[in-house]
Amino acid sequence: MTAAADIAVIGGSGLYSLLDGGYEVRPDTPYGAASDAITVGEVAGRRVAFLPRHGRDHRHPPHRIPYRANLWALRALGVRQILAPCAVGGLTAGLGPGSFVLPDQLIDRTSGRERTYVDTGAAHVNFADPYCPAGRQTVRDTAAATGLDLTGTGTMVVIDGPRFSTRAESRWYAACGGTVINMTGAPEAALARELALCYTTIALVTDLDAGVDGDHGVTLDEVFRVFKDNTERMRALLLTTIANLPGQRDCPCPAALDGLQVAFDLP
Ligand code: ADE
Repeated sequence: MTAAADIAVIGGSGLYSLLDGGYEVRPDTPYGAASDAITVGEVAGRRVAFLPRHGRDHRHPPHRIPYRANLWALRALGVRQILAPCAVGGLTAGLGPGSFVLPDQLIDRTSGRERTYVDTGAAHVNFADPYCPAGRQTVRDTAAATGLDLTGTGTMVVIDGPRFSTRAESRWYAACGGTVINMTGAPEAALARELALCYTTIALVTDLDAGVDGDHGVTLDEVFRVFKDNTERMRALLLTTIANLPGQRDCPCPAALDGLQVAFDLP
């Protein structure tokens, strides 16, 4: 059977649609429904699925997003490569609002989320490098070719939220090596790895986090406003990256489960 889509974009805060036209699907999964209907369409001859992470009306807060259903549903549609744009706070003064960052590492500070498909067996996936090297290279090359200023590395701290951090927490995350912070990057990246998917996150800095902001701290209003102001730049980066993604996956991601006792059948 031909896959409905090979590439997916999971849109974050402020990015609730990407594709013009297309059709909607609502695949059922063993983990319930995805965040919302998935739109399937075409970009530069590539079949693409779009899923708004929080739902179109932003009804799912970060700690209640059905991450397992989302990744499972996308894989069941045939998706193998995922681009995951997200809004982040900057943990260093050099990464101010409007900066684009391509994280290469993450620190997972979440707890209590459904974070794995593994219930039994020795199935410990390698997660040393949480993001797809080929996906990251494509984003980097695309940004360079289109003149977009993008910081090519970064460590993303993921907190539970829904509240923002205190100034002391924020300074501590920065002292631990974090450069940007958000609330949705985990367990999404780890679940993608457990399904042997390529997963690349693209972060847009919407605010300076409380430890570097000497003023009022972070407000939701500024997060949405800055994301909205930069939506077109993010959209352009995503669409050109999709066109440039390799057709064949030569990265380590497809082999993520090799040699492990995986008790579930991949969709
Ligand atoms: N998402 C956007 N900005 C954030 C911040 N400062 N902290 C956590 N998540 C965020």
